[in-house]
Order: sequence, then structure tokens, then C-alpha cells
Amino acid sequence: MPVTRAVLPVAGLGTRFLPLTKAVPKELLPIVDRPCLEYVIAEAVAAGITDVVLVTSRGKGAVEDYFDRAPALEATLEAAGKLALLGEVRRVASLARVVCVRQDHMRGLGHAVLCAEHAVGDEDFVVILADDIVDAEEPVVGQLLRVHAEEGGAVVALKNVPRERTNRYGICAGPMVRPDRMRIERMVEKPAPADAPSTLSIVGRYVLPPTIFELLRTTPPGAGGEIQLTDALARLPLAHGHVFSGAHFDTGNPVGLLEAQLHYSTRHPEYGAAARALCARYG
Ligand code: UTP
Repeated sequence: MPVTRAVLPVAGLGTRFLPLTKAVPKELLPIVDRPCLEYVIAEAVAAGITDVVLVTSRGKGAVEDYFDRAPALEATLEAAGKLALLGEVRRVASLARVVCVRQDHMRGLGHAVLCAEHAVGDEDFVVILADDIVDAEEPVVGQLLRVHAEEGGAVVALKNVPRERTNRYGICAGPMVRPDRMRIERMVEKPAPADAPSTLSIVGRYVLPPTIFELLRTTPPGAGGEIQLTDALARLPLAHGHVFSGAHFDTGNPVGLLEAQLHYSTRHPEYGAAARALCARYG
């Protein structure tokens, strides 16, 4: 059965962007002319995802509004003959079927995924972290779904990181069954560099079976006192890691967001020339 559902946890406080995130969800910060969140939803849709579950929280109403229809605005644009803008406004609202569920307490990424259980049901599904934006010829979600179709079980996206930074990521280890594919035997959340079993870190894309929900329910709080998705994943009987191809940006911190903005703006069909000229001037 094709995988058609994606869960996007966006409930986090985004403290690295405070004070901005007092008022603006970080998922709506722009890369050129679109919010970060739209890039990852477009990636999912390009890989065949039709249904998106956003796990939101207090103060994230603007995220819900962004992907909703806006009848009054649409009527105003139509009456003014601004049809190109009207098309854009409608396009965003029809990217995917979007439903929102709330996480009432920040109990960690694993808990946020568990909050989506009723909206997902008894099917394999994808989890996408909106902080991880990847510019790739084949969408990373599509790369993972290809591995999932071949191997079954869970699949996570992997990326090599410098050893001194393993304490920031979930790290996987196991035999490489192909140059870009690991049969995962161990997963450790944020290991100290000396204890890390490898330098392949999980990037925010997962294909998961619905059995993950029961595991999440019985996973005790781990690193940082939060229910960690990695800890539940480590208890799954079968998981593969796929070392994806593509340019990855961590937009959850200001420098990573700036890098993504430079990457996409200098390649943008409309603003690219202006962006490159600006880079040259400020370079
Ligand atoms: P982060 O660890 O990046 O936390 O969460 P954050 O709140 O987004 O940002 P900082 O670290 O305070 O700056 C990783 C992902 O998990 C989601 C976040 O929204 C983000 O997409 N998350 C995290 C939840 O949905 N709920 C949680 O309880 C924790």
C-alpha cells in the first residue's frame, strides 16, 4: 500500500529564534518568498503524500491559517482582478489535505508524534521535521519511500557529521548493506563524541510503521527529560538508514536559515540575479 500520510511536528518553542518566536512560529520564517514549512510540505507532496498532520501548540495559529482557505481574502483579490495572487493563495491551501492536532505540553518529539496517532490510524506514515530542508533532485521523502518499498520496516534519513558534533544528534550504527544503506543495529540520542558508535546522524525524515505508537507510549523520558523518538525507534525490530543525496540546511538556527536563504535566493528564477548581485556587493 502506498504511504500517503505525513506527520509534521511543529509544536516546539523555537527558543533559538527568541524573541522573534514569541509572536511568529519559526516554521513561517521565510526562505525568499515562502515559509520554511511550505518547502517541506511541497517535498512530501512531490513524493506522493496527500495527507498532512500538523502537530501544533498554543501560539501556532498562524501555521494553521497559512494552509487554510481564506474566503474573504480570495473574494477581495478576485474582485480586484488580482488573479495571479489569487492563484497563489489558493495553491497553498490545496497543496495537501491538512489537519491539525495539538500537543498540550512540550514533552518531546516522540510525544508530539504520539499526539498524531488518531489522525494517522493503522498505516505506515512519514515524519518530517520542518527544520531540515533538503534541496534534492529526488525528494528525500521519495528516496526513503523507495528504500521502504524494498526493505520494509522503518527507514530514517542519515547524514555524516563531524565527530565533535555527535552530541547534538541521534546517531545510528550497523552494517552498510549498500554504500548508501545501513541495516541499523543501534541508535543513540546525542552521544558524547567519544561514545558515538558512528558519525551517521538522523536527519528529520522518517518512514514509520504504526507500531511505533505503542512503543512511544511505553518509552520513558530520555535525553533532556523528553520522550525521544529515537529511543522508541531503537526498539523497532527492523530499521534501515538511507544516506540521502541533496543539499541539507538546518533552518532551526539563525545561521542555518541564512544559509538556506542564500542557497535558494541565488537560484531563484525571479530574484536570483538580484540575490547574486547583492551577495557580490556584501561578500
Ligand atoms: P527542537 O529540538 O528543534 O526544538 O525540535 P524547537 O522548540 O523546535 O526549537 P529550539 O531548540 O527551542 O530552538 C525538533 C522538532 O520537534 C518539534 C519541534 O517543533 C521541531 O519541529 N517538537 C519538539 C514538538 O513538536 N514538540 C516537542 O515537545 C518538542
